[in-house]
Amino acid sequence: MNKNPLTLKIIVFGFLALQYSFIAKAQDTTKYLAKNDTKNQNNMSTMNKFEFKPLPYSYDALEPSIDKQTVEIHYSKHHKAYFDNFMIAIKGTAMESMDIMDIIRNISKYPMAVRNNGGGYFNHTFYWEGMKAHGGGVPTGKLSEAVTKTFSSFDEFKKQFSDAGKTRFGSGWAWLCLDPKGTLFICSTPNQDNPLMDIAEKKGIPLLTMDVWEHAYYLKYQNKRADYIDAFWNVVNWEEVARRYETALKSLKIK
Ligand SMILES: [Fe+2]
Repeated sequence: MNKNPLTLKIIVFGFLALQYSFIAKAQDTTKYLAKNDTKNQNNMSTMNKFEFKPLPYSYDALEPSIDKQTVEIHYSKHHKAYFDNFMIAIKGTAMESMDIMDIIRNISKYPMAVRNNGGGYFNHTFYWEGMKAHGGGVPTGKLSEAVTKTFSSFDEFKKQFSDAGKTRFGSGWAWLCLDPKGTLFICSTPNQDNPLMDIAEKKGIPLLTMDVWEHAYYLKYQNKRADYIDAFWNVVNWEEVARRYETALKSLKIK
């Protein structure tokens, strides 16, 4: 069967166009992989001021209140994923040269991926550092006085903070914060939001937080969030919370 010259030209042109399209797509994919390469992200994190900080204790340090497997998965998988995805979300933007606090405080200006992953990155670091092995007990000094003054007693504070965690619908966080006038207050935030964010219902300086996402407790406590919350009080690092309180007062220029 003979094809006329015009038909042959159309076939050859179509074939070349198809090849060009494949090459162009392959080049786009290569560029995409280079931009989003996980290894590059990890290398960047070691050179960048944004740091995935080491856990301040061993995975089993919070046993039996928070079990080893939960801490390991929570830190090395969940927290790490927030950090990695935050680094991807800010790559190639002005945020790369900013401070995490400046990003958090102005979060309404940035994409949802930055809000979710930047919040997850910040909140978890704050959560880990607010706990320690053989923690618990009661606050001392000025923080103790402030807790009693604001909530009438430590037990009442514990009850209100626990309730903030128990009643947070879905996933989120309970917080003890300092407001701009230097008064303590309790609140909770959904998802990975926090009280430093400009979108927060009530803004303040965080002093203590408790993660009430299911990944924080489900392996040991299943659906019993209240049991995890009861156990949380055994691992609170009150020295760190007191240090944060002093720092927050100074930043507000309150003695
Ligand atoms: Fe979490």
